[in-house]
Amino acid sequence: MERTKVAIIGLGTVGTGVAKLLLDHGDRTARHAGRIPWLEKAVVQNLNKPRKVEIPDGVLTDNLDDVVSNPEITVVAQLIGGIEPARTIMLQLLEAGKDIITANKALLAIHGPELFDKARQLGRCIAFEASVGGGIPIITNIGQCLTANQVTSLRGILNGTCNFIITQMQDHGTDFETALREAQNLGYAEADPTLDVNGADTAQKLSILSQLAFGVRGNWEDIPCKGIEDLDIADVRFADQLGYRIKLLAIAKLVENEVEMNVSPMLIKKGSPLAEVQDAFNAIRVRGDAVGPVFYHGQGAGQMPTASAVVADIIDTVTGRSQITFNNLELWSESHRPRSMADASQTRNRYYLRMQVTDKPGVMAEITGILGKNGVSIASIIQHKPDQESLASTVPLVIMSHQTAQNAITKSVEEFMQSENIDSKAVVLKVL
Ligand code: NDP
Ligand code: HSE
Repeated sequence: MERTKVAIIGLGTVGTGVAKLLLDHGDRTARHAGRIPWLEKAVVQNLNKPRKVEIPDGVLTDNLDDVVSNPEITVVAQLIGGIEPARTIMLQLLEAGKDIITANKALLAIHGPELFDKARQLGRCIAFEASVGGGIPIITNIGQCLTANQVTSLRGILNGTCNFIITQMQDHGTDFETALREAQNLGYAEADPTLDVNGADTAQKLSILSQLAFGVRGNWEDIPCKGIEDLDIADVRFADQLGYRIKLLAIAKLVENEVEMNVSPMLIKKGSPLAEVQDAFNAIRVRGDAVGPVFYHGQGAGQMPTASAVVADIIDTVTGRSQITFNNLELWSESHRPRSMADASQTRNRYYLRMQVTDKPGVMAEITGILGKNGVSIASIIQHKPDQESLASTVPLVIMSHQTAQNAITKSVEEFMQSENIDSKAVVLKVL
């Protein structure tokens, strides 16, 4: 059988998984590609680092030029994170005539227009299934399987690290820092995990999906975004008692000709599919005008699930399918009439509020008075008793509102802060 020579740039968590699949399952990949996707070179930074995959002699190199200047290598999986040198390497590879596969969502969210234009100009393609949802084939599904539809909304859990942390807090009482360290050890987190926990990684993935589903042109940094870095285990527990789970959700919705987008932690009723997504799993619910709702669920981070998506892209590129899809999608292309991004943070929501209040007569009336004055209608209110031994003079108060405008909540929270009976800034979370 003929070979197509393939290179990998980066042999970390994802690159190692890709090398394992290419080296250990060559028969499988060859059967699907009709040729052997042959691992010719694997480029790393540090040749002396121990590797968790046995690389054949002559394959490992720290010289990018071994790939760039080898015309026999036509397909390259670019698997280093961050913006530079990843961007420059991608441009060099395109100029050298390579088709590229990447998992780097940060790079695509920021430099997608430049990279896709360059690939189009040079007649090359970029495949990026692994950039969103890890092993879930969400890019192929939106870009190919649902193309008879206008997608009208999508919502999902797009960050495995955050979902893993929240699950650990909820199910095992693990504190935030310990859970994050565990996610890092398991290979889920970004090299800079701030991008996971502050919601940036989720917003970058949402911007890629929204480009694909709605043709949204815009800066991912303009998506209203709140992460889980301040999530308190107390809120995970109170939400649980109220019948909810907290999840970091990405939402995009077509409203007239604009797309409302938002990333924030939200309370979701237990038993609903998104609420039951555990550990590093991701899930995305897409609604199309013909198909209705479709739900995708699978491992959103980690070595082999992500490698599964990368290798499927390698096979599609070797067969020529990726090139056809890439040309037809015209992503980030000037020829598409782009939709603009609208701020979804002002849409009406139900809210969860928690504050620490003085345990004395009249305080409840003061709080409900502030909410009532601002037009916030209360759905339920729970004041937790101080435990018997506690000498604390304050108690937690948890309020669930009916649907209300965000500015009514913001105004109420500002007024709570003026009260001497309310101890700390109220925690405010949206309810899906
Ligand atoms: P790692 O940090 O584990 O690995 C990065 C690799 O890149 C290392 O092998 C490193 O070499 C190599 N590298 C870095 N700089 C250079 C350079 N200048 N030249 C050559 N090699 C270089 O990252 P991951 O595998 O976790 O992630 C890779 C990409 O995949 C990122 O964009 C990430 O966002 C994305 N991704 C990650 C997922 C995951 O679960 N981890 C899931 C989905 C996407 P060396 O080993 O010598 O240090
Ligand atoms: N750090 C990312 C996550 C990797 O945890 O979801 C997958 O994109």
